[in-house]
Amino acid sequence: MTNFIDLKDLTKDQLIDLISLSLQWKKNTCDKFMIDKNVVLIFEKPSLRTRISFEVGINQLGGKSHLLNEKEMQLGERETVEDTARVLERYADMVIIRCFGHNQLIKYANISNVPVINALTDYSHPCQVVADLITIKEHLKDFENLKVSWFGDCNNVLQSWIEASGLLNFELNIACPEGIKPNKEIISWALKRNNNISITHNPHKAAEGAHCIITDTWRSMGDQNPFPEHKFMPFQVNKKIMELANKNAIFMHCLPAYRNKEVSSEVLEGSQSVIFDEAENRLHAQKAIMHFCIHK
Ligand code: CP
Ligand code: NVA
Repeated sequence: MTNFIDLKDLTKDQLIDLISLSLQWKKNTCDKFMIDKNVVLIFEKPSLRTRISFEVGINQLGGKSHLLNEKEMQLGERETVEDTARVLERYADMVIIRCFGHNQLIKYANISNVPVINALTDYSHPCQVVADLITIKEHLKDFENLKVSWFGDCNNVLQSWIEASGLLNFELNIACPEGIKPNKEIISWALKRNNNISITHNPHKAAEGAHCIITDTWRSMGDQNPFPEHKFMPFQVNKKIMELANKNAIFMHCLPAYRNKEVSSEVLEGSQSVIFDEAENRLHAQKAIMHFCIHK
């Protein structure tokens, strides 16, 4: 039994196994290994994909899900995080948490006797990136000689991408405006494993020859102090960026997307966009993640 908090907690082989199992279960139905298991979902923030793909996945695996939404639960508000964890482990076999502070999630996971899964915090979004890696494997086949380029904000999704590049050694170029940067500690963690990670303020340089172009909203949930939009504008993923990329490049976005902000409508709806495959793959990835948590 284990938690699933961040990709950097995994070994390279564990991440590769998760990707293979997800793809295997996408093709063939899997065992109902969650019969008689109850899973609690604590969602302090809104969600479409994560919440429903977890609930459907738990259902397909024979288990039952119980949701505490943002109106019912803000960790540490009505009672301590520790008391919440010690109560829920008496009822539930697993807890899936989407919350603001990553430290709250860590605090919860440290005390919980049942596995805890990170369904997004202000710091990271590992379930999303496992689904994205599956999508890459389907469309581009391999991670070797892969050039991934990220555009825009240095947020929770990027954090998990940096961790994935540290484990899988693909090239990662981060194109962001001056004045924001990715987390220093995670960059130095990843650079010790993979020296093919770079940060640039030149979006065209990042786009050149890339196999995979990714962006995300310029304003994440709960971001009280957003960076000015006009400074993000040169990092919008549009036709020009896609033309500079490899001719078979794919465009990825975790969604929800804001058209003509971080991505042009044309690219989002265009033939290189794989956004709905990514959304579907959340379901397959999370079934494999739950299996990993229960069976490790
Ligand atoms: N991509 C993603 O996590 O979407 P939701 O916020 O809708 O869950
Ligand atoms: N960075 C976004 C991801 C949403 C799935 C956010 O945190 O709002």
